[in-house]
Amino acid sequence: MPATILSGKPIAEAIKTEVESEVTALEIEHGIRPCLTVVRVGSDPASEVYVTSKVRTAAELGIISQHHHLPAETSHEDLLRLVNELNADNNIDGILVQLPLPKHINEREIIEAIDPTKDVDGFHPVNVGKLSLGYPSLIPCTPAGVIEILKRTGIEIAGKHAVIVGRSNIVGKPMAAILLQENATVTICHSRTADLPSITRQADILVAAIGRAGFVCGEHIRDGATVVDVGINRVSDIEAVSRFFNGDELAKRLQAVETRGSTLVGDVNPKDAMAKAAYFTPVPGGVGLLTVAMLMKNTVKAAKTRRIEWPQKGSKSAK
Ligand code: GUN
Repeated sequence: MPATILSGKPIAEAIKTEVESEVTALEIEHGIRPCLTVVRVGSDPASEVYVTSKVRTAAELGIISQHHHLPAETSHEDLLRLVNELNADNNIDGILVQLPLPKHINEREIIEAIDPTKDVDGFHPVNVGKLSLGYPSLIPCTPAGVIEILKRTGIEIAGKHAVIVGRSNIVGKPMAAILLQENATVTICHSRTADLPSITRQADILVAAIGRAGFVCGEHIRDGATVVDVGINRVSDIEAVSRFFNGDELAKRLQAVETRGSTLVGDVNPKDAMAKAAYFTPVPGGVGLLTVAMLMKNTVKAAKTRRIEWPQKGSKSAK
């Protein structure tokens, strides 16, 4: 039997509806409107698409959204200054600096400069540390979205062997921490892992986040596994596309290459995953849609923590 497709759309829509209700309640009950500020430096085309989607979705849900678009030549010091201004502005609940930043900017210093209470990406070391300790925190949006897909589909996590391919700070490492928190047995694999297929074939839940189109294929997947594809890669090579798809989907993808020059492929070979997995998240239309929804959820969480919970605990300021 082919795998059941885990579409991200209905789950992302459900989360956005919940967030919208929370935003309405915050305004009625507390007179608060959460505010998200997104900073983009330079003109990376993928970043432009992501940032536009983040800002537009926030506005749709009643969250105030601001977008600072700075030129690629912006200095490290100027960006740092802007982050500090945003930190000091009490009306701003969430700050997101879109990555990657231009090479001359020290990404790590910028992330570390963001007030952890406003770090809706969950990338600040304080939030990373809290997550690894299992304390409440702002959690990175993409791995948080993966968990929502699994939970809302009724896929059991506790006691299962989850294998993550990829150890990035944005996905692989936080994914491992969250799955551990959910009582999975967790293995992280990476480019130096010996005999990768023998490990990934042990996975009940296999998460691919390595940034290589169609890398995870039949030999990596156990029959009946849940395969979660976090990758987003542009593929323009027709021969590669033919290895990843068949039937109507292949025709559609080849058409996309012809008209748009490329098609989006995840880190998993979808043809193989459909043949072997029990559940599979498609690309596009899977995990990617959850990332923005979870960012909205984090923004509301940050607003509630800063403006309602902390003042009630006797803190004089939101910081
Ligand atoms: N670039 C790619 N994904 C992300 C993300 O989740 N957050 C930020 N800030 N930049 C990204």
